[in-house]
Amino acid sequence: MMWKHKHLLGMESLSREDIGYLLEKGNAYRDYLERSPKGENVLQGYFLINMFFESSTRTRVSFEMAGKLLGMEVINFTTDASSVQKGESLRDTVRTLSRMKVDAMVVRHRSSGIPFYLSQFLPFHIINAGDGIREHPTQALLDLLAMQRSGVDFSHLTVAIIGDILHSRVARSLSIGLQKLGSTVIFSGPPTLIPRGVEVLGGEVIYPVEEAMERADIIYLLRIQKERQEAGYFPSGQEYARYFGLNSNAMDRWGKNKKIMHPGPVNRGMEIASCLVEDERSLIEEQVSCGLAVRMAVLETLLQEGKES
Ligand code: CP
Repeated sequence: MMWKHKHLLGMESLSREDIGYLLEKGNAYRDYLERSPKGENVLQGYFLINMFFESSTRTRVSFEMAGKLLGMEVINFTTDASSVQKGESLRDTVRTLSRMKVDAMVVRHRSSGIPFYLSQFLPFHIINAGDGIREHPTQALLDLLAMQRSGVDFSHLTVAIIGDILHSRVARSLSIGLQKLGSTVIFSGPPTLIPRGVEVLGGEVIYPVEEAMERADIIYLLRIQKERQEAGYFPSGQEYARYFGLNSNAMDRWGKNKKIMHPGPVNRGMEIASCLVEDERSLIEEQVSCGLAVRMAVLETLLQEGKES
């Protein structure tokens, strides 16, 4: 197939074929990583800048590793040690960097739309690593790859996305991706964290949470974003765990076939009972491994096949 995107800004702009193409490459890289490789040189001479204006472990480190495994030079730009601290604007910061040697920029920012904004005037590839409450496309791609590798048939799959839908770019990107592949999406959680009109994303809203979980093949738990909970959407962590969290009694009732996913970082004992994180039905650690593979696939595809304009 012909890859026609210069940037990766969101799942919304990818077709079903684009998603399938990245999953196929990601799957090959996942197998390749199993063989403990020492790295490739397919992107030797290219420079990647990681620009994270919000904290990250999984996404930032895996983009750095992905770039290095493909032979790239990777620069981690940290706002704390930059002239952002002296008041330099985002636009001036990125325009300054663009006059150096940059081939691709991975950006995470608390404001929705920043990667799109940057793509309008920067000459290199922009990859969205999470923008506000809008999208986190590589998270959705790695989630889809972990599902695919667990043996699901997307056209007969129901995924229940549970929790803080209101603030979740993960929920948005994943639900778009799943529906493009023909799957059914259910949303559930505390009513205060389910935005009015969420049905426009194409999923069904089901209360109570346990019913949504029971109907699903995969229970996808979202992190409670403590940093965005200033309005007090639920009374306490204990109450969240009791009424909206996944516990082992329920999983035991539902048997062996139901899978558990979570994008991380996990609030153990809140969204999910701690013992279920490493349960045999959990894909959480596989998601991390798929993250590295998918980010290799994305970098390789954009830099080798992404259109210049
Ligand atoms: N899931 C995810 O984006 O994790 P990080 O914030 O650690 O990158």
